Formats: sequence, C-alpha cells, structure tokens
Amino acid sequence: MSLLELRDRIHSREAVLGVVGLGYVGLPLACVFADAGFKCIGVDIQQERVDSINAGRSPIEGEEPGLDELLSKVLRAGGLHAATSYSALSSADVIFIAVETPVDDQHLPDYSALTSVCRMLGPMLKAGALVIVESTLSPGTTDNLVRQELEAASMKQCGVDFFLGTCPERVMPGKLLANLRTMNRVCGGTTPETADAMVELYATVVDADLDPSDALTAELVKTTENAYRDVQIAFANEIALICEATGGDVWRVRDLVNKSPFRSMHLPGAGVGGHCIPKDPWLLASSVQGKDVPLRVIPVARAVNDRMPNHMLELLQSALQEAGRSLRSARILILGYAYLEDSDDVRNSPSAVFIQHLQSAGATAVVHDPYITEYSGNIFTKAQDTDAVVIFVRHKHYLDLDLVRLKRVLQSPILIDGRNIIDPADAMASGFIFRSLGRVIHE
Ligand SMILES: NC(=O)c1ccc[n+]([C@@H]2O[C@H](COP(=O)([O-])OP(=O)(O)OC[C@H]3O[C@@H](n4cnc5c(N)ncnc54)[C@H](O)[C@@H]3O)[C@@H](O)[C@H]2O)c1
Repeated sequence: MSLLELRDRIHSREAVLGVVGLGYVGLPLACVFADAGFKCIGVDIQQERVDSINAGRSPIEGEEPGLDELLSKVLRAGGLHAATSYSALSSADVIFIAVETPVDDQHLPDYSALTSVCRMLGPMLKAGALVIVESTLSPGTTDNLVRQELEAASMKQCGVDFFLGTCPERVMPGKLLANLRTMNRVCGGTTPETADAMVELYATVVDADLDPSDALTAELVKTTENAYRDVQIAFANEIALICEATGGDVWRVRDLVNKSPFRSMHLPGAGVGGHCIPKDPWLLASSVQGKDVPLRVIPVARAVNDRMPNHMLELLQSALQEAGRSLRSARILILGYAYLEDSDDVRNSPSAVFIQHLQSAGATAVVHDPYITEYSGNIFTKAQDTDAVVIFVRHKHYLDLDLVRLKRVLQSPILIDGRNIIDPADAMASGFIFRSLGRVIHE
C-alpha cells in the first residue's frame, strides 16, 4: 500500500487503526479515533487494564470529562476493542505508539517499553503501514532508535515498506479529550509525504493547526515545551523563596508582575510531578549528551523544582517549632497524593518525596486523596490525632475546608498550605499556626 492509498483509506474511514499503550494518552486517542468512524484496536500488556476497557470502565480514576461516556459509546458501536496480543495489529493500517518513556536515575531515557513495542510490533507490520509515535522522545530517537528497531524486527525498510513519524501528544490529565481535539499538533514525518499523510489523519479528529514537519523538529518542539514550563515554574518557586525570606507575598507579587506587558509568571507550588514535566527536560538534555554543549538552565530548574517538597518540610518544621513540638514521632496529615488537582495520576508525586522526608525524620505520614482508593476517606477522620495538616494538591475537595472543624480534631493547630488554597486571614482567625508557601503571615 502506498501513502496515497493509505490517505484514501483514511478519507473513507476504511483504515484500521491500532493504538499500543492504553494509558492517559492511548485510551482517549483510541476513543476519539473510534468516534470519528475508524475501527480501532487497542493493545496493552496489562490484562486488567484491557479487561476494564472492554467492559466499558475507564481505568483513569480522576475527573476526565466525557471519557467514560465516549468509551461506552465506541464500545457499543463496535469501534474499539482492546487486547493484550499484538497479533490483531497485523490488519492495522496505522499504529500509534503511546507507551511510557521515563528517565532513569542518571536522568537518561529509559526506552525499554518503546523498544519492546518495536520488537513485538515489527513482525506484525503489514506492507505500507504507518507507525506514529505519540510518546515523548528525546530529539533524534525516531530516526536513531525507532526506525532501526522497527526495520530490524519487521525486516522491512522504512520509507519503502512501511512509514514512520512522530506526533507528540500535548494532553494534560483532567482535560484529555478536550486537549486532544482542540490543541495544535506537530506532525513529524520521516519524509515530507509521511508528514502530509499524518496531517490528513489527525485532521479527522483535531480541530486546530496541524503543522507538518520532520521528526526531529517535532521531538524538539515537544521536549522544549515542557522544559520551558519547568524552567518557568522553577523561576516562580525561586521568587516564592525570595518572598518568604524578605517578608513579601509571592501571590501578590505575581499578580502585579503579570500586569506588566509580556510577563506571564507561573505559579509556585509544593513540587512538580507527573510523568512529563519532571522528565521531558532530561529527554531534551540527553540529546546532547557527549556533545560539547554546556547545559546550565535546564538542570538547575530541575534541581529547584525537585527541592520544593524539602522546602515544605522546612515550613512544617518551623510551625512545629512555634508550637513547641518536634517532627520526630509526629503524625502528619498530607492532603493530596496525585501530582495534579482532581487527577489520580501519582507518577513522580511530590507528596511521595515529602513522605520520604517525614519518615527519615522519624515522623508518620497519614495521607488523604479522594481520587486514590487507598488514600480516600473522610478528611476529618484521618485528621483525628494528627499533629499538622500539609496541603500538597489543589483538589476541589480542599477548596472550602471547614477550618474550625479541622482544628478541633487536630492534636496541635498547624496548617501548611503549599498551593495557595487557604486565605491566611481565615487560617489565623481559626487559630492555626499557619504557613503558606511564598509568603510571610503577619498576625
Ligand atoms: N500523561 C500525559 O498527560 C502525557 C501528555 C503528553 C505526552 N505524554 C507522553 O505519552 C507517553 C505515554 O504516557 P501516558 O501518560 O499515557 O503513560 P501511561 O503509563 O498512562 O500509559 C502507558 C501504557 O503503555 C502500556 N505499555 C507499556 N509497555 C507496553 C508494551 N510493550 N506493549 C503494550 N503496552 C505497553 C502500559 O501498560 C500503560 O498502560 C509518554 O511518553 C508521555 O511522556 C503523556
């Protein structure tokens, strides 16, 4: 099948699509394409996930507007079927790859999942199939790793017997479907004709600009986007520390800074988590490993953001000291374990880092998170007999906390806010010893 024939099959919706990896990226992607009239085959190595999807239960527990309904709809219409076996992909005209691409302890890419996909997919590739990597990749990976792995596993030649591109996903948990349908995409083909076919395919589901490019550019754009965000957050976090040390209020400062033209200061916070922002800057940096490029900003931003849970511990310790208590053997309630508000995504959770700090100091952590089964439950029951409450996540459940009731059940009235949820005046009026990231609380 030539690319022109593939484009015809896309146009007529006869093209069969495969999605490998049915997580935060792959599941909504499969649902949206199935809803656009394509037959979609989803493949994931987790049997439980596959069973749950086939039964119409999205494995994503956070607030994902429309996803449960869309999954039910496409299953009812027979547009989507999930499996653990790759054999179903032998009929696929297009295969998306959406598996995790983390970094290891040395901040280098761990492509074990991606490589395994290429090796299992290769023998299934039909002639003329188009493979699109949606996973985030270090610049150069499509050409230098994916192409070679697929060619070796399929014994086919890229650009002749099959086609390859990368279209990095831009979604955020909590807005998966909306982001997928309305955000611009960069369609990076290993040939210009491949990029054009990709644009045609994505145009069936995306109502936004679709920019054709080469694969390297698409990889650079995606990793730069997230590295840029990480650097911006690190800057806001550093200003928060400056405000605390000088007696300022970072939230007021930020509001006023952003009144200045062309300034858009980010929000400081208790830590940066998730699968993407903590590792995509390292994916970008790893592309120049061994080359004479003296990177400064990207690693420093990572270090600043990685230290924020430690700073939360400093705030807690200062409040405990004011109350005449010590951290050793204290019981601390942490509100929020997911990395993002109203999400169940716990990857690289800043709360987890904070809990490790607490445990090393001899304290006990009690965790509440309404989106994570093992941590759900009543906040006030969990708060019973704890020595302090530390807010890590801006879940909607914490926005109108009953402070009077909370104080009543605590051993000592200590409240630490890492997300600017609590009005300092309310906390003080309720009698708390209160710390809020980025500002000094004046009596
Ligand atoms: N989560 C996000 O918001 C987001 C946003 C943009 C880009 N991305 C990128 O998209 C990629 C996927 O992220 P995600 O959040 O969907 O990850 P995820 O962990 O939610 O999903 C990955 C899925 O791939 C499956 N998998 C792993 N190895 C497999 C294999 N060999 N064969 C079949 N399935 C396999 C896993 O079981 C899992 O269900 C990553 O590169 C990530 O950086 C994620």
